[in-house]
Amino acid sequence: MQLKWYKLINVDYDIDEVLVWARKLQLSQPGISIDNNSSANGYLGEHQQYWTGEFPQTQFDYFNSIIPLDGTFKGIKTSCTLWEYQKQSNLLPHIHKEENEIGGLLIVPLIGKFKTSLFENDKIIDSVEYSPGNIFFLKGKEFLHGGETIDDYRLNAVLYIHKNVDMDLYI
Ligand SMILES: [Fe+2]
Repeated sequence: MQLKWYKLINVDYDIDEVLVWARKLQLSQPGISIDNNSSANGYLGEHQQYWTGEFPQTQFDYFNSIIPLDGTFKGIKTSCTLWEYQKQSNLLPHIHKEENEIGGLLIVPLIGKFKTSLFENDKIIDSVEYSPGNIFFLKGKEFLHGGETIDDYRLNAVLYIHKNVDMDLYI
């Protein structure tokens, strides 16, 4: 039986507008580097940093029509994080077990191809690649997963899927 652990969807939207928003967010404040204590999910690896911001409303509404998002996560309107990875970045295997306030994470690739893999202990058992023009989500509270950059630099936004969403209905 094929394991159903993710969904990859082709989307048609104004990615340039989101790229401009992302660049401005990066320039407005220093990114936060990952360290051992900065994630509820354990250490995520070196050479990655993130910014917290408000995702552009028009594109938020579009993605929200595909899967219900939390438009006021932790009191922030269209709340999201923007993540930057370098060539040598590895997103270490982790699971979002403690994150009861979300149903999951919606990944919006902005620059670069990325590979997300499913792990069993420290062994990869399945992988999927995705790029700008796709959106991606997975059962991250259920499955151990990690990832790596394919095109050197990677920039992606992460939106919060609403906590009441049953991911089984969308995957
Ligand atoms: Fe994750």
